[in-house]
Amino acid sequence: MTYAALRSIGAYAPEKLLTNEDLSKMVDTSDEWITKRTGIKERHIAADDEHTSDLGVKAAQKALDRSGIDKSEIDLVVCATISPDYFNMPSTATIIAKKLGLEGVTAFDISAACTGFVYILSIAKAFIESGMKKNVLIVGAEKLSAITDYSDRGTCILFGDGAGAAVISATQNKEEAIIDVHTGADGTYADLLMTPNGGTGSPHDALEGETGACYMQMKGNETFKVAVRTLTKDVVEILENNNIKSEDIKHFVPHQANYRIIKAVGDALKMTEEQVVVTVQKYGNTSGASIPMAINDIYEEGKLQKGELLLLDAFGGGLTWGSALVPFSPL
Ligand SMILES: CC(C)(COP(=O)(O)OP(=O)(O)OC[C@H]1O[C@@H](n2cnc3c(N)ncnc32)[C@H](O)[C@@H]1OP(=O)(O)O)[C@@H](O)C(=O)NCCC(=O)NCCS
Repeated sequence: MTYAALRSIGAYAPEKLLTNEDLSKMVDTSDEWITKRTGIKERHIAADDEHTSDLGVKAAQKALDRSGIDKSEIDLVVCATISPDYFNMPSTATIIAKKLGLEGVTAFDISAACTGFVYILSIAKAFIESGMKKNVLIVGAEKLSAITDYSDRGTCILFGDGAGAAVISATQNKEEAIIDVHTGADGTYADLLMTPNGGTGSPHDALEGETGACYMQMKGNETFKVAVRTLTKDVVEILENNNIKSEDIKHFVPHQANYRIIKAVGDALKMTEEQVVVTVQKYGNTSGASIPMAINDIYEEGKLQKGELLLLDAFGGGLTWGSALVPFSPL
């Protein structure tokens, strides 16, 4: 039996910072309100000439360098993004592959919003376990500042830019294997979080090129409630299905959207503060990049050791959700 193993992690956050103080000069808000309601203090914002693929390349290069696998061995690149370099085509994955010198390698994007990283993890696992691919580079990359309406205080305080990447490789060693990835979606709640304009669902706006055609819109309060409910249910299920208890988890890495959501889910699972990884205060919500950026933080802080079990949990527009049980298995 061939299994899939998480070999390495990498991430990149652009240099420029957007603080709560900065935002309070742009919209009617305050550091106190944002901190209390979200836990966010600052986010990183890409430069005008820095595209989503550029962020992805920097994260991917780190993951490749740390993987011990030569880039010529990579046979699939998958990118999760809702802020691609170009809408529809070419995919951001093909641009990342080109910039990394991985020419000729199969590459495509997926759209699962903030659950993107868990979705691409499941794709890598399936391709590897089926024997179709051996070494998959997965990248979550977002330039959300490009699709954020900085006159809407309900959304602009939440989002930031960044990228995270991982190399997933075939192994025969079951101890190294990704244990389970669980994903789901429900389009009933599509209107909670969406970019309503710019696609064929609203061709008029797309043709008119109205201002804000591609901005995100969100029903924040309803999204909050569904997020807590869905994230908790999903993670309880994956633990039960695999006969794993909360205390067996070394690092719980939830999607970083709002500290209050993270705290509510962590408390429901009876996780200790040491188990729950929180980075939302410094990056805000970076959608598909948030989980690998958080894993990269604990890796660079020396807190992530070989063999330790990660529990991932994500929720996002669609609605989509997903969770994963993943031992860190560097070569
Ligand atoms: C967006 C969010 C922080 C708003 O917090 P909330 O506690 O739900 O606040 P509400 O939307 O109920 O608004 C409460 C009040 O604060 C106001 N408000 C909203 N944004 C504000 C801001 N940035 N600064 C100050 N006041 C703000 C509202 O206008 C409202 O005022 P009112 O009571 O006079 O009508 C919160 O709903 C949230 O984080 N939602 C989930 C977002 C998320 O995770 N999205 C991504 C999922 S992947």
